[in-house]
Amino acid sequence: MDDAIRVTVETEDEEETVRLSDTEGTVEVGDATFRFSVDDERDGGGDGDAPAEGNDAPTEEADAVSDPRRLVAIDDIPTGGTLRFEATNGQRGAEGILERNGDEVYAWRNSCPHKPHVRLDPGFGARVTDDHIVCHEHGARFVRGDGFCTRGPCRGQSLELIEVERRDDGVYLTDERFDGGRVL
Ligand code: FES
Repeated sequence: MDDAIRVTVETEDEEETVRLSDTEGTVEVGDATFRFSVDDERDGGGDGDAPAEGNDAPTEEADAVSDPRRLVAIDDIPTGGTLRFEATNGQRGAEGILERNGDEVYAWRNSCPHKPHVRLDPGFGARVTDDHIVCHEHGARFVRGDGFCTRGPCRGQSLELIEVERRDDGVYLTDERFDGGRVL
């Protein structure tokens, strides 16, 4: 599937959103697991068309997509919100959020300095204004692209940076603490 899709499952008590770049997936909400698949007729031209010639040779694009440090295509990051991801190193992982400001992309640990167990992005994007990321719990405001808290109970503290870089149309983890990652 060429384009990632966002799937949201809502129950009476909870809501969970995942982004998929495959044609099948699961969403876990509470104790329940929802499995689904998507007919992707956008690939292959339909009605038994033969695949394009020369598909045996790996392409640069395929190499980029299979890079474990590649998180997402830049265009899949909302400009008015954030996108959750997981950075991993062996068995250990950390949850982060991607924030996009025009062509610039930043990543922060998905944790509020006021109460580190509180996620800034609970799964459907953190609150974002023109200038700030806003914690939904007590309203702390963090400068976009900087992470510094200018207002709220953790004023003067900063979000923890996770290093990423934009390369062509993709966003890649460059933080040496992690060897791979994926969008949640
Ligand atoms: S937990 Fe984020 S402001 Fe309190």
